[in-house]
Amino acid sequence: MTYSRIIGTGSYLPEKVLTNADLERMVDTSDSWIVERTGIRERRIAGEGEYCSHLAIAAARNAMAAANVGPTDIDCLIIGTCTPDQVFPSTACLVQYALGLKPGGVAFDVSAACSGFVYALDVADRFIRTGGARRAMVIGAETMSRVINWTDRGTCILFGDGAGAVILEAGDEPGIYSTHLHADGQYENLLTVPWGVSQGVEAMTPEGGKIVMRGNEVFKVAVRTLGRMVEETLVANGMTHADVDWLVPHQANIRIIQATARKLGLPMERVILTVAEHGNTSSASIPLALDAGIRDGRIKRGQNLLLEAFGGGFTWGSALLRY
Ligand code: ACO
Repeated sequence: MTYSRIIGTGSYLPEKVLTNADLERMVDTSDSWIVERTGIRERRIAGEGEYCSHLAIAAARNAMAAANVGPTDIDCLIIGTCTPDQVFPSTACLVQYALGLKPGGVAFDVSAACSGFVYALDVADRFIRTGGARRAMVIGAETMSRVINWTDRGTCILFGDGAGAVILEAGDEPGIYSTHLHADGQYENLLTVPWGVSQGVEAMTPEGGKIVMRGNEVFKVAVRTLGRMVEETLVANGMTHADVDWLVPHQANIRIIQATARKLGLPMERVILTVAEHGNTSSASIPLALDAGIRDGRIKRGQNLLLEAFGGGFTWGSALLRY
């Protein structure tokens, strides 16, 4: 059997910090409301001219250094993003060229909103297990600030920008035990950026290209769905919560994360949290949290990690792996 295992991680956050105090000056909100309802204290915002690919390139360089591999060692690049630089080429093609990855290798983007990284990880794992690639780079990169309506207090407090990267290598032992992906398109209206190129620029209203969300309803479906999925993931591997060393969740809202940890029977000390400093960076949030936990020494080789995400679509997905 061939498995894929993580040989290095990296991340990048833009320099500009937007605090809750800054938001208090922009919309009718307060630091205490944001912290109590979401756990978020600050988030990063991409600078002028700083695009999704730039964030991804910085995170990728970081991951290659950690994995001790060069650009020509990587034959597959998959980027989860819903905020690409351009319609085409894909962000993955831009990043492949900028980094000097193996020419002629595989490079493409995956669109699954906040679940983008887990979706991309699943695909990369399949490439490796079936012999289509030997080393794959998986990146979650987002410039969510560009799809925010900065006058909508229900959404502008939640999101931030950033990128995280993981390098996978083929090996004889797991690695990734299993991945689980799901989607249900009936919830389109609860969470959407209701404009895309197919509608034409003339259909673009000032609000059209910005996030619209019924947060309370998203919250309820997310909690219910994530609870079911973490159970599905453990059962598929004949494991219990006692076998999980770290939960590395999508960082949308501390209360959603707490509900999932409770469902798993995991104390919060075994959850990697970055939501306070990063906010919701969509598909970048899991690889950012993973890299934070690895670099500060909490996540150690041989430990079992459960990754889980939920996002627009709705989409949701998980991965159980040995680091
Ligand atoms: N500051 C102050 N008050 C606010 C703010 C704000 N920023 N936003 C909303 N309110 C008000 C509302 O107007 C409402 O006032 P009312 O009672 O007078 O009508 C009150 O606060 C309660 O609003 P709710 O929407 O019910 O608040 P809730 O506790 O659900 O928190 C939140 C809102 C934080 C958006 C929450 O629903 C949430 O996190 N949902 C999940 C959304 C999410 O994470 N989406 C991202 C993608 S999906 C994912 O990643 C999981």
